Amino acid sequence: MYARVKTAALHGIDAYIVDAEVDILYKLPSFTIVGLPDNAIKESRERVTSAIKNSGFPFPQNKVTVNLAPANIRKEGSSFDLPIAIGILAASGYVSTDALDRFIIVGEIGLDGTVLKTRGVLPVAVAARKYGAEGLIVPKDNVQEAAVADVDAYPVSNIRDVIEILEGKSSITPFKLNIRDIFNMGGEQHYLDFKDVRGQESAKRALEIAAAGAHNILMIGPPGSGKTMLARRFPGILPTMTLEEALETTKIHSVAGILPPNVALLTTRPFRSPHHTISDAGLVGGGAYPKPGEVSLAHNGVLFLDELPEFQRNVLEVMRQPLEDGVVTIARAAITLSFPSRFMLVAAMNPCPCGYYGDPYHECTCTITQVRKYRAKISGPLLDRIDMHIEVPSVRYEKLAGEPTGESTEEIRARVMEARLIQQKRFEGIKNVYANAHMTTKLIRRFCKLSPEGENILKQAITRMGLSARAYDRVLKVSRTIADLENSESIEPYHIAEAVQYRSLDREYWA
Ligand SMILES: Nc1ncnc2c1ncn2[C@@H]1O[C@H](COP(=O)(O)OP(=O)(O)OP(=O)(O)O)[C@@H](O)[C@H]1O
Ligand SMILES: [Mg+2]
Ligand SMILES: [Zn+2]
Repeated sequence: MYARVKTAALHGIDAYIVDAEVDILYKLPSFTIVGLPDNAIKESRERVTSAIKNSGFPFPQNKVTVNLAPANIRKEGSSFDLPIAIGILAASGYVSTDALDRFIIVGEIGLDGTVLKTRGVLPVAVAARKYGAEGLIVPKDNVQEAAVADVDAYPVSNIRDVIEILEGKSSITPFKLNIRDIFNMGGEQHYLDFKDVRGQESAKRALEIAAAGAHNILMIGPPGSGKTMLARRFPGILPTMTLEEALETTKIHSVAGILPPNVALLTTRPFRSPHHTISDAGLVGGGAYPKPGEVSLAHNGVLFLDELPEFQRNVLEVMRQPLEDGVVTIARAAITLSFPSRFMLVAAMNPCPCGYYGDPYHECTCTITQVRKYRAKISGPLLDRIDMHIEVPSVRYEKLAGEPTGESTEEIRARVMEARLIQQKRFEGIKNVYANAHMTTKLIRRFCKLSPEGENILKQAITRMGLSARAYDRVLKVSRTIADLENSESIEPYHIAEAVQYRSLDREYWA
C-alpha cells in the first residue's frame, strides 16, 4: 500500500515542496526513511513510531519505507515528522488518501502524538501558496506566521486533528488575518524613546545622521555615559519598515525558529545585541545545516556590538563580508546557503580598559601601552567599514536631574525619512544602493562634488589630522547625508566641517 503526503523543505529563507512517499510491503517489519541526513532519520523514526502508537493506532508490523522526494536535495529539520506519520497512517488505511494531494502538511511531533512548533513555517506557507495548495496544516503555534502568506492555514494540536481535517470532519477552520491591518497597526511602534536621553545632544545628532544615511557608527565613552541607552533607541529613528522588509525579516526569524507564537509579522526593526562571547557561527550563521546568525536576524535593523574590543578578533573579521554585501554566504560540505544580512552596525566601546581615559571626572589608571593594545584589537579593515566614530562623554549629574527636554524619537525619525526620500530619488535604478553609505567610489565622485572652498577645507583637515585616503571618501559620504538632512543640493563647507568631526578620533585613537 502506498500513500503520498505533500510537505515542504527549507533552503535558506525559501522553501520548496517535497513529497513524503510511504510504501508498506508485506515483509518482515522494518522502518526506513531515505532522503534525510542520518542522525535526523534516526530521531524522526523514533518520534513517529511512538506518536502513532500513543495516538491510538497500531504501527504497521510490515516493511515501511519512507522516501522524501526529491531525494538528492539535502533536507533538514523535524518538520517532516507529521507528514511521515500521516503518510504511514494513510498507507495503512486509517486516513482517506483522497484529500492528501490538496494539503501541505508540516510539523514536528512529540512522542505522545502532540504536534509541536517547528521552524520556517512562513517560507513554507509562501511556497504552499505558490504551489496552489488548498490548505496548509501546521502546528497551532505556527499558524499566525502561516496566515501571513495568505494561505488557508489550519492549526492542529495532534495527529487526530489532522486526520479529521483530511476527512472533512473537523471543526477547525483556517486561521484568517489581514496582513495590511497587522502591518498598519504595528506601524506606530513600541520603540524606546529618545526623549528619555538627557543631554548628549551631539551624540543624538550623530545618530540622526547615521540613521539618515545608513552609516555604521562607533560610540566611544566611559562607563555609564549612556551608550547602550542610545543604541537601544536607534532602531526607532530609522525609517519605518516597508511591508516587504517586514516580511523578509519575519521570514529569517521564522527560519531561525525564534518567532514568538502569537506574532504573525515583525513590524518593528530588529535590534540584536549579541554578547561578546559569541562564536563566529553565532554571528554570521552556521551549523551542519546552517541557521541564520545574528547578522541575518538583524536584517533591516540594527546589530549592536557592545564592548567591541572584547569580541574575538576572528569573529569580527567574519562580519566583514555580510557588512559589505548585505548577504552572508555559508558554505558547508553538504550545502551552501545564503541569508540576507543588510543591517546597520552600531558599536560601542570604552576608550581604554579601565574606561575613563579622557574623562574629566575620573582618573584613568591604564598605561599608554594598555590603551594602545586595547584599541588595536579592532582591525583597520573593520574600522574602515564604520563611517562615523563619536565620543559619548559622561553626563553631569545636574543634567540627569529634572524633566527630560530632548526631542522625541518621532520628531527625529521624520527628518530621517525626508533625507531617505532624497536618497531614494538619487539612487533610483542603481542596484544595491539605497542610502549614501552604500555609494561606491564612483558614485561618490558623481554625487559628492565639492566647491573649491569645500575642497580646501577637506584637504586642510586631512593634512592636519593625517587622515587616510579611505577616510576621505567616508567624510564625503557623511557630508552628503548632512546636506541631505538640510535638503541642500550642494555640499557646503560647513557640512564638510561637521563630517570631519566624526573622524576626529582617527588620529588620536587608531594611529
Ligand atoms: N544621558 C542620559 N540620560 C538619562 N539617563 C542616562 C543617561 N546616561 C546614562 N543614563 C542612565 O545610566 C544608565 C547606564 O547607562 P548605559 O548603560 O547606557 O551606559 P553605557 O555607556 O552603556 O555604559 P558601559 O560602558 O558601562 O556599558 C542608563 O540605564 C540610564 O538609566
Ligand atoms: Mg553599555
Ligand atoms: Zn583607562
